Amino acid sequence: MSVQFSLAGQVALVTGGATGLGLAIATAFGRAGATIALNDLTPDRAEAACATLRARGIACHPHAADVRDGAAVAAMVAAIARDLGRLDIAVANAGIYPNTPFLDLAEDEWRRVIDTNLTGTFHTCQAAARAMVRAGRGGRIIALSSGAANGAIWGWSHYCASKAGVVLLTKGMALELAPHDIRVNSILPGYIDVPEGGAHLAPAYKDRARGTAPLGRPGTPEDIANAALLLASPLAAYITGTTLVVDGGTSAGCAGLRPAGE
Ligand SMILES: NC(=O)c1ccc[n+]([C@@H]2O[C@H](COP(=O)([O-])OP(=O)(O)OC[C@H]3O[C@@H](n4cnc5c(N)ncnc54)[C@H](O)[C@@H]3O)[C@@H](O)[C@H]2O)c1
Repeated sequence: MSVQFSLAGQVALVTGGATGLGLAIATAFGRAGATIALNDLTPDRAEAACATLRARGIACHPHAADVRDGAAVAAMVAAIARDLGRLDIAVANAGIYPNTPFLDLAEDEWRRVIDTNLTGTFHTCQAAARAMVRAGRGGRIIALSSGAANGAIWGWSHYCASKAGVVLLTKGMALELAPHDIRVNSILPGYIDVPEGGAHLAPAYKDRARGTAPLGRPGTPEDIANAALLLASPLAAYITGTTLVVDGGTSAGCAGLRPAGE
């Protein structure tokens, strides 16, 4: 069976796109033909990532904004609609994952994680949805949640809470945006090595996290980008309000516990 689709003529916003999963998603969408509006915290980071994408033959426009700032996100989306003429896909990817045991967790860090991961997703998705509704062409919204939404991980009580919030935010948006032909889904990645984001995590944790997938290999940013591409594609035309776990089977059960002893 040959399956082909193209995002040519469409505009995709990816927040936190300067590195890691966001850069992989922007690359995949760009290779499928979309023009990329690439957001990150600073103009330098957004422009450097766009230069990388342009070198790969992808049309890319940098948009610096802090997703915690609702007015800045609204202004960014307005600029995209004005300058690029449309917004078809929004990927709320920007996120942070500092790791601090619950008993030591300061309110400042709690707020930073919730503000970035949950409120930032709200800002991005609402601004994008409003632009899509105004244009009347429908759209697709994809939010990056995490496997941490389904089960707690030591030191990540704030992160888990923020990503569980993203799951229900996704479902709420899916209900209310379906009449506008806007599909909303979230991706729950397992552990994925990225150049910057995991720098603070213990090597022993990373080794174990890399080795747990029943599929027998660690996940890659491209695995997550492919899932995003699927959700943005016509193949997912009847999929909305769902959470797509992409973890090589890690959360399916305990692959290492074999009653027959093999
Ligand atoms: N890597 C993993 O194992 C993994 C697993 C599950 C979920 N996730 C989620 O995927 C997303 C991307 O993760 P990653 O590993 O690529 O992270 P990363 O740290 O490598 O990249 C995140 C990007 O977001 C940007 N960013 C941070 N705060 C921002 C803000 N307020 N406004 C705009 N941009 C901001 C950063 O500058 C950075 O470029 C996050 O939401 C993360 O929680 C990652």
